[in-house]
Amino acid sequence: MSANVNYRAPVLLPPPRRIVLTGFMGAGKTTVGLLLAKRLHWRFQDVDAYIEATTGSTIAQLFEAHGEAWFRQLEHETICELLGWNSVVLALGGGAMEDSRTRKLILSAATTRLIHLEVTLETVLRRCAGTESVRPILRDREHLQERFERRMTHYRESHLSVPVDRLSPVGVVDTIYAALTE
Ligand code: S3P
Repeated sequence: MSANVNYRAPVLLPPPRRIVLTGFMGAGKTTVGLLLAKRLHWRFQDVDAYIEATTGSTIAQLFEAHGEAWFRQLEHETICELLGWNSVVLALGGGAMEDSRTRKLILSAATTRLIHLEVTLETVLRRCAGTESVRPILRDREHLQERFERRMTHYRESHLSVPVDRLSPVGVVDTIYAALTE
């Protein structure tokens, strides 16, 4: 395991039944999640994709029609439902950890591990350039840095933070796999 990766899950926890990936937009949660699920022979579920499938609307449409607070409530309820699944890697939307109920729910489940893909804002802006139409939060440039910093505190409550800027998706999966199986 690389020196700056700190696995904080107590050793006496039972083996994980689900792994939840968190991190800011563009951290690679979906890409890494798919690869990690494959490596574990588990299923993968992206929370945003599940919301889009169940509502029949895109995330951008939901933000436009109902606003952010409404979306956060639906996101929380969806995560509650998906945390009932086993042998699954879940990719959260970048803002899900802003909800204290969601944080508590994830961190209090002994068989759930929360993994933070830690990305710099510079990388976020590069990777997400041109995706403002599907990522409403990215449009609010004025508050992006503030949001980023506020969320970082919550992301860092995760069992493991992996700095991903210089790693390939496979490199991130190798790091997570090594930490989980050590
Ligand atoms: C959001 C991130 C998006 C999506 C929604 C809000 C956020 O997910 O949930 O647009 O608040 O950061 P990704 O992190 O997968 O882009």
